[in-house]
Amino acid sequence: MIESEEHRKLSEQDLDREGLWEEHFQSHQDSKPFGPMSVGMDIDFPESNHLYGIPEHASSATLKTTFGENAHFKEPYRLYNLDVFEYELDETMALYGNSVKTGTTGVFWFNPTETYVDIASSSGSTGTHWISESGIIDVFLLPGPDPSSVYHQYATLTGTTPTPPMFSLGYHQCRWNYKDEKDVYMVHGKFEELDYPYDVLWLDIEHTNGKRYFTWDSSLFPDPKTMQKTLADQGRRMVTIVDPHILRDNNYYIHKEATAKGLYIKDKQGEKDYDGWCWPGSSSYLDFTDENVRSWWADQFSYSRYEGSTPTLFTWNDMNEPSVFNGPEVSMQKDLRNLHGDEHREWHNLYGMLFHRATGEGHIRRSPSEDIRPFVLSRAFFAGSQKYGAIWTGDNTADWGHLQVAGPMLLSLNTAALSFVGADVGGFFGNPDAELFTRWMQAGAYQPFFRGHAHHDSKRREPWMYGEETMQRLRQAALWRYQLLPFWYTVFHEAEISGMPVMRMMWMQYPETEAIFGVDDQYLIGADLLVKPITAAGVSEVEVLFPTDHLWYDVKSLQIVCSTIASMSVESRTISSAIDEIPVFQRGGSIIPRKLRLRRSTTTMKTDPYTLFVALDDSYQASGTLYMDDEETLGYSKRAECADASISADLSEGAAEDRMIERIVIMGFPSTPKAVSVNEESLDFSFNKSSNVLVVRKPEVSALRDWSIKIV
Ligand code: NOJ
Repeated sequence: MIESEEHRKLSEQDLDREGLWEEHFQSHQDSKPFGPMSVGMDIDFPESNHLYGIPEHASSATLKTTFGENAHFKEPYRLYNLDVFEYELDETMALYGNSVKTGTTGVFWFNPTETYVDIASSSGSTGTHWISESGIIDVFLLPGPDPSSVYHQYATLTGTTPTPPMFSLGYHQCRWNYKDEKDVYMVHGKFEELDYPYDVLWLDIEHTNGKRYFTWDSSLFPDPKTMQKTLADQGRRMVTIVDPHILRDNNYYIHKEATAKGLYIKDKQGEKDYDGWCWPGSSSYLDFTDENVRSWWADQFSYSRYEGSTPTLFTWNDMNEPSVFNGPEVSMQKDLRNLHGDEHREWHNLYGMLFHRATGEGHIRRSPSEDIRPFVLSRAFFAGSQKYGAIWTGDNTADWGHLQVAGPMLLSLNTAALSFVGADVGGFFGNPDAELFTRWMQAGAYQPFFRGHAHHDSKRREPWMYGEETMQRLRQAALWRYQLLPFWYTVFHEAEISGMPVMRMMWMQYPETEAIFGVDDQYLIGADLLVKPITAAGVSEVEVLFPTDHLWYDVKSLQIVCSTIASMSVESRTISSAIDEIPVFQRGGSIIPRKLRLRRSTTTMKTDPYTLFVALDDSYQASGTLYMDDEETLGYSKRAECADASISADLSEGAAEDRMIERIVIMGFPSTPKAVSVNEESLDFSFNKSSNVLVVRKPEVSALRDWSIKIV
């Protein structure tokens, strides 16, 4: 097209006015030395009305329209990692489409620059528009045709969540801040005294010497090794926070070395080390896009470098969007340069993941002989973060709305294949009353990452702060969690192998049942447990939707709650949910392993026997999986590759006797059996005619050996 000179000048002025050549945000300037750039694409989902994914937004898990007449939102979904008061937004991730006629498909938009996604629907189809500030179009179409195929396809691109160490699936107790060693011992001691299960005690930023990470405030924490050992002797771990901003203090060894080695992100001229403001004051930020920087960072976790650390100390990576208090939108200027001269705008959304990854690598390196699995919690993430550890949803608030949105947010993260996720139980800001706290603890007990956390201005809210009655309810929720750990562990292991999320939206299991496509206030753990958290005050009953492809059993009464059998349909049931109940249901046709003995930590449960909960389907069949390993080392992945060999090796060490089955509970059994035998030996049993529950006691068989049960 040939333009007139006048027209050209006019358009340049327009472009200038639009801020395309230079942009201002409050007092910040983005110099845009390379001028305006962007890449975009339209992707249509014909005959599809249900799209999911692109976390992290404090909204429903089903995406809403942002464009066209009657659009639900006025603005597109924005994908830009920020430290936002109450919720940090956003993340770039996969988008999944779903439709009855064409099956499940996915799209992975692989671009770490600021990205916007518009969604418009018309006559039964959905159109999406993707635009990223820079970079290239690198887009993957995942053909499906069903959810497990989409997740398998996505896993081949970005990886899966490795089976977490068992302790990290227990309850985590955190607060900003446990003040000193005395406070730590007090909190730990109280859990012990109350027989209240917990696995990890966390220390926030105040444990350090002036927010210099990898150090301790020696007046508050004079003997961190003894502290960790005391807790470890009673089966507990600790976590300390390690943030990415490094205090610019020449006497701080981390800063001295990072400066001398030239590891920091540079200013926009690419010359001086960037200087931004965060918790410690004037700080610099390591360039985690550089492999050598990541490697150097990983080395800082060695026991000799990180003084006062021991093998039972793990890590919390916070503020890694990255958060810069005096930067635009509390983050970094886009025109800063990395060590290779590339602008921050090019890799902004990768920063958090690369930091998380380097920390995880540090955990692996620090224990070459013990081979201990890493555990790192991160706030910021990107596609692939599932490989490096857990994610939590940041600074939520102690109100019912935040409890309610926690479920959909975690489902949306799971939709993007981030399985190991949680929200601060109780709400970070504010003070939950006893009812809200109880409901949150019950919900958290059935979410993948289970941690109570609170802001320093919040009142103390350890479980015993609410009086005996509430404490007993909270403890009961924790006990439900611990009983179910063999199941959680098995589902996590399956997620590692298949890429299927751990916490599943209903459509992931029932992709042909359109009636549940929009449901995000109930969900499945794996394929077999259906959970409906209570997220409103004063509730004593709720409606639960049951897919009628199976029978469903209440896990508390062990009774059938929905007996209709019809494929691709749902039925609603009213379920009682008084304050000491949470509606949870087991799928007919499944077997769920539990450990029912009362313990205070996963460590002490390790060799406890299993109880198998068998929920018969309408033709009296059931099947299930139980995965087990040493629960803490990386050796499991090697063993999984040669399962038979490992079983015989383990048996010779007496492992089989450590993995006994002590009880089998069969739900939906039709009539009183005449006899029950296991491996031809007859056994005691009890049968309840009114509930149709058969309990077979002490089969005395190992879960690692073949055995058979005969019921006459
Ligand atoms: C922000 C985090 O989101 C919060 O969990 C933490 O307590 C504070 N930073 C202090 O480290």
